[in-house]
Amino acid sequence: MAKRKRALITGITGQDGSYLTEFLLAKDYEVYGLVRRSSSFNTDRIDHLYQDPHESDVKLRLVYGDLNDASSLNQIIKTLKPDEIYNLAAQSHVRVSFDIPEYTAEIVGLGATRILEAIRDSGVMSKYYQASSSEMFGNSAPPQNERTPFYPRSPYAAAKVYAYWMAVNYREAYDIFACNGILFNHESPRRGETFVTRKITMALARIKHGVQKDLFLGNLESKRDWGFAGDYVEAMWLMLQQDKPDDYVIATGQTYSVKDFLIEAFGYVGLDWEKYVKIDQRYFRPTEVDCLLGDSRKAKKILHWEPKTDFKQLVRMMVDADMACVEKQIYGTKGRR
Ligand code: NAP
Ligand code: GDD
Repeated sequence: MAKRKRALITGITGQDGSYLTEFLLAKDYEVYGLVRRSSSFNTDRIDHLYQDPHESDVKLRLVYGDLNDASSLNQIIKTLKPDEIYNLAAQSHVRVSFDIPEYTAEIVGLGATRILEAIRDSGVMSKYYQASSSEMFGNSAPPQNERTPFYPRSPYAAAKVYAYWMAVNYREAYDIFACNGILFNHESPRRGETFVTRKITMALARIKHGVQKDLFLGNLESKRDWGFAGDYVEAMWLMLQQDKPDDYVIATGQTYSVKDFLIEAFGYVGLDWEKYVKIDQRYFRPTEVDCLLGDSRKAKKILHWEPKTDFKQLVRMMVDADMACVEKQIYGTKGRR
């Protein structure tokens, strides 16, 4: 029997980590997830995948560590000798990165370097996936592809640019199989509730059920290329299955404004968004990224990857999930009677 491949995922408790774990377990990988210590449980998104470590043939295990702590990363990588490492952990909120720029750089930038150094130092030569971001393009005119210059507009984006170049450098200097997935925004019912799409769908469900009156937002004019996270994790895996490491843009090739998202979501449940949305300056950023629109022809040609979910399907999937979630909160596990 062929030996199971072993993957280490940092950020396993996040949106992408949960979908990637499902994807790799379905491919019969042995998955190790790095989790940081928290005073309350932070594993909601992967609880349905949990396996009792006392059982036999356990395929998912969690290990404590932190991207801020090189010694834990060195130890974990030396001991586990993973075939593949997916570095998804981050302080991933752009607006928050203006409030905590130093911490953001520490985790997003230096955290990636710590993993690359641990790979080099261990001699294990695990393949490495870096969660790079379309935010790195910032002010560069759309459409953006692998040859578009970076012009970061936030501490988060600047830190991601540093991590991107460190992955490229370790590939060129030490022959490490390091890939950058430059992913455009991707969303899902598991999206964190402070990102704009989920903030909208959650508020909408609460408004529809009469338990919230208003929705406070910032800039409604910015445009994003929004895809479904479940589609995007396949692209991460595909990058590490190629003969040569490389960098790829992953996107839908369609862009919509925050206002478009509001129109689609509120329209779907028969409400007029303008009656509920109020503007609050606190949600604006000191520097904004006006328009992201990805050109992922390289991924299509080499990885044979294409998104399966369009904007309308994504919005409806998120609204349906949050309507069910709010109903459960209000009416209990039996739902609406
Ligand atoms: P997310 O939901 O915010 O998840 C972030 C994950 O990182 C969580 O598991 C979090 O753990 C973990 N983490 C944060 N700080 C850590 C630390 N110091 N040490 C260890 N783990 C830490 O993010 P996501 O949307 O899944 O995104 C995954 C990655 O892709 C991120 O690197 C993000 O920057 C990048 N990205 C995302 C998108 C997108 O549209 N979603 C697009 C491009 C790139 P806790 O659960 O304990 O907080
Ligand atoms: N979060 C948030 N909250 N954003 C708002 C709000 C609000 O109340 N009102 C308007 N927006 C606008 C933001 O100004 C931005 O232009 C847009 O909605 C999207 O914001 P987010 O959902 O926070 O995502 P993001 O584009 O800044 O960053 C996400 O995508 C990046 C990839 O491009 C994050 O997932 C990053 O980690 C990721 O790298």
